[in-house]
Amino acid sequence: MNRAAPEPQANMGQPEPRLEARLKVTGEARYASDMPVHNPAFAFLVTSPIAKGAITGIDDKDARTVPGVLGIFTHENTAELKKLSWSQGGGGPTTSIQDLGPKIQHDGQIVAMTVADTFEAAREAAYKLKISYQEEIPSATFDSPGVTQTDAKKPTPKAGNAEAAFNDAPVKLEVAYSTPTQHHNPIELFTTTASWDGDQLTVYEPSQFMYGLKNKTAARLGIKPDKVHAVSPFVGGAFGSKSQQTPRTGLVALAARTLNRPVKLVPTRDQGFTIATYRAETRHAIKIGAAENGKIASFQHDGWEVTSRPDNYSVAGVEDSARMYGFGAVKTAVTTVHADRNTPGFMRSPPVVPYIYALESALDELAVKLKMDPIELRRVNDSNKDATGKEWSSRSLMKCYDQAAEAFGWSRRSAEPGSMRDGNWLIGWGCASAFYPTHIGAATARVKFNADGHARVEVAAHEIGTGVMTVVGQTAAERLGIPLDRVEVVVGDSNYPPVPVAGGSNQTASCCSVVMKACDAIMAKLGGANIKETVGSGPVKDVAASFSKLGVSTVEEYAEFVPDVVKPNAVTSLVDDPIKKLYEGSPSLGGGSHGEKLMYAMGAEFIEVRVHALTGEIRVPRIVGAFAAGRIMNTRTARSQYMGAMIWGVSSALHEATDIDKRNARYVNDNLADYMIPVNADIQQLEVILVPEQDNFINPVGVKGIGELGNVGTAAAVTNAVYHATGVRIRELPVRLEKLLTT
Ligand code: MOS
Repeated sequence: MNRAAPEPQANMGQPEPRLEARLKVTGEARYASDMPVHNPAFAFLVTSPIAKGAITGIDDKDARTVPGVLGIFTHENTAELKKLSWSQGGGGPTTSIQDLGPKIQHDGQIVAMTVADTFEAAREAAYKLKISYQEEIPSATFDSPGVTQTDAKKPTPKAGNAEAAFNDAPVKLEVAYSTPTQHHNPIELFTTTASWDGDQLTVYEPSQFMYGLKNKTAARLGIKPDKVHAVSPFVGGAFGSKSQQTPRTGLVALAARTLNRPVKLVPTRDQGFTIATYRAETRHAIKIGAAENGKIASFQHDGWEVTSRPDNYSVAGVEDSARMYGFGAVKTAVTTVHADRNTPGFMRSPPVVPYIYALESALDELAVKLKMDPIELRRVNDSNKDATGKEWSSRSLMKCYDQAAEAFGWSRRSAEPGSMRDGNWLIGWGCASAFYPTHIGAATARVKFNADGHARVEVAAHEIGTGVMTVVGQTAAERLGIPLDRVEVVVGDSNYPPVPVAGGSNQTASCCSVVMKACDAIMAKLGGANIKETVGSGPVKDVAASFSKLGVSTVEEYAEFVPDVVKPNAVTSLVDDPIKKLYEGSPSLGGGSHGEKLMYAMGAEFIEVRVHALTGEIRVPRIVGAFAAGRIMNTRTARSQYMGAMIWGVSSALHEATDIDKRNARYVNDNLADYMIPVNADIQQLEVILVPEQDNFINPVGVKGIGELGNVGTAAAVTNAVYHATGVRIRELPVRLEKLLTT
């Protein structure tokens, strides 16, 4: 085994290489915009240069003279598209041409789309389209004149009398933190290709939710969902940005229908900053009251989040921050701040990344105040239940701390800030916890098992880089008792049975649970008992004997898996039931803090920073993370997930921020040159420790999900390390050297 393929420990699967690895490294993997269509026309988006106001006129005379132009679509000629509500659309539609008409609600809003024989002609026509605007002064973000505030109307845990407990506590901490706007910036752009065959539409679009794409596109066009086929074989990065109905999909489909020709849209990188969602900027006020021994009697967390004018979107991570330790009493609140911006959306670990950053930074500040080791502070507040009395299904936080601390060499840390030094480099060691709710949703799958020992698994899952095909294949191989190379897994197509959105780190748990169910049904049909003994080692000849006994060459099973935490009818609709179902494009995710027990994956991250005493330059030479997340399906893909996530965590701490021009409510650094991210030279040693954990309560496969765990807490670990190096506490992300030089 090499570092990339860690030796499986208890309750861990083999480090099988990804089934699609060869396709990806050889460039054979086809992404949505690579899918061939016959004689496509090419589209180019025109987006608004103002953030607030209205279109007063459209002059397309010059644009129409560009050779090869086929059509120009604006709010004036797209009335066929249906309006969708926020809940139907999930963020995108409120900024759509068809919902807003001439109204401009944010900078970069789609106002027109040109279509031509070539991409270049479409682009030229887009540049020649003259749109006039009546402009109003926009409100950009927190503290801008004209923003309004509303209650987020999200769960805000309360228990005991947090105010009284705070007042009575001998040690008090009151601190505020803020996090910036961030954009997902997946390398694959936000493309859409639409192709009609009679009244049958095929949409090729990178998607984290095939049945959402299918159903919402149908709703937008006012056609039946069975007329839409959605295809998304691979997704080149998503991180939440490809999970929702988009403002572009219906427009491209309408253009293709109007022109009677397939239309292909590949928007530009900068357009991606405003035609998709983003992580909104947040603010946090935290109050902690503790005893001298570190036991926390009172935890209060207020959050503020920016959103668009019409949508009350928020991530409201107090639901998590208030429950992670055995606080005596808690009180929380979340307020949304409405500005002239596009609606934000999910971005990797949406609630926990900003809210746990605040919690874990505050705990470090409390440890300093108490002159306590930050790990010991967490140990003192480790608990088998939260302040409301709800218990954990399993909790391995301190195991993660102990293993990570050992690997990191934490015992050699000298606690005093600035006390560890290597020449002009100030050395800082910091740590923080990672938490992520265990989600699961209703899912369906079809498995075919042939007498020759080969199997095929069909699920409309999403290969967004996580390795879902591989772990689904491993599940089938294990349950059917055959080697992995005899399992074919197909995903990314709405002709396969639906599974939930690939979000909230539920996909492995949901898909593997249903595939396991289908495989077990097949094995039961094949005669059960004597076959089961072969599971794992898989002598195929026994299986063949069972097939011949049954007199068939193939056994096929379709399965529906509905976990306890969602409604029993989550897969299909009962006739007069108003709740949308999986087949209709609505996933029903449950778990986390909403079940009978608290279900969370956890980890501990340790970071070494080196800060140059003269220049303030910040380096991160070492990262160690230990994580426990129930069953690990594949130690190789798990390590990759954690590694990428922690690198992203460093990015959120030191690099990433979308800067906003406050006068114009416009994103300034809307490109990959100015939007800072870590490159290879920024990341040096990185160690991932997989801590064994078994949890039979959470779901049939015992998987907690790891896609979003690793980048939670990293930012706090980095800023805690920066404090330890310098004695300077930066409470506003990202930490860049100018902040160290001016404080
Ligand atoms: Mo992830 S932000 O839940 O797609």
